[in-house]
Amino acid sequence: MVKISIALSKGRIFDETAPLLERVGIRPNDDPERSRKLVLATNRRDVQLIVVRASDTPTYVERGGADLGVAGRDVLAEHGGEGLYQPVDLGIAACRMMVAVRKGFDYAGAVRQGARLRVATKYVNITREHFAAKGVHVDLIRLYGSMELAPLVGLADAIVDLVSTGNTLRANSLVPVEEIMPVSARLIVNQAALKTKRAALQPLIDAFSKAAGR
Ligand code: ATP
Ligand code: PRP
Repeated sequence: MVKISIALSKGRIFDETAPLLERVGIRPNDDPERSRKLVLATNRRDVQLIVVRASDTPTYVERGGADLGVAGRDVLAEHGGEGLYQPVDLGIAACRMMVAVRKGFDYAGAVRQGARLRVATKYVNITREHFAAKGVHVDLIRLYGSMELAPLVGLADAIVDLVSTGNTLRANSLVPVEEIMPVSARLIVNQAALKTKRAALQPLIDAFSKAAGR
């Protein structure tokens, strides 16, 4: 029997992938939010789920630690995404990657005057590329979360982060000023596995595509 591993992160990605898994006919034997197990068996003897950090999903799939995975476009763009197939946009975990500043900060003016902008983010590669393409000089400040705090305490002029409802920005007196990219989660596939396990993987990829209405 050919075994298939699917890498998922807990929280939003697992929650939003669970209905798709259900439609595909895969049910984990343990709830990843309750269990401490990192390898979860499923109702299908040939399929297991592995539980990883969201930002580690591309690494596991690229290096063959898992055959398939579900990762946000933000994480894939930051990682680089070479060595991975991204055959299906699942349309889940949808949000936008935005530049945001403190209310009242003249972003357009700062950019126009060629000021050196201090930008806090965990997406340093995406941010560097975005501002380089605009010809804007930036000091990148690498944070691991709660980016919204940085402009409030004077650590940065701007942040690059994900925005969905806009509630987090509003709650912290920040305003979005520029969209970098729309984000949603993709099914990703190890390139070598797709060749060696195609008979097992292709039907699963097609089933995910159908379940996501693609
Ligand atoms: P890590 O655990 O590695 O720090 P994380 O805390 O960012 O990652 P989640 O918050 O679970 O992980 O986010 C997982 C993915 O969900 C993100 O990569 C993004 O694609 C998407 N996402 C994040 N925030 C939102 C949001 N507010 N609305 C919709 N989708 C989101
Ligand atoms: C994400 C993101 C923003 C927030 C935006 O954080 O980093 O802070 O969602 O969503 P909103 O526009 O609907 O307010 P998340 O909720 O994943 O928290 P975490 O990154 O700290 O886990």
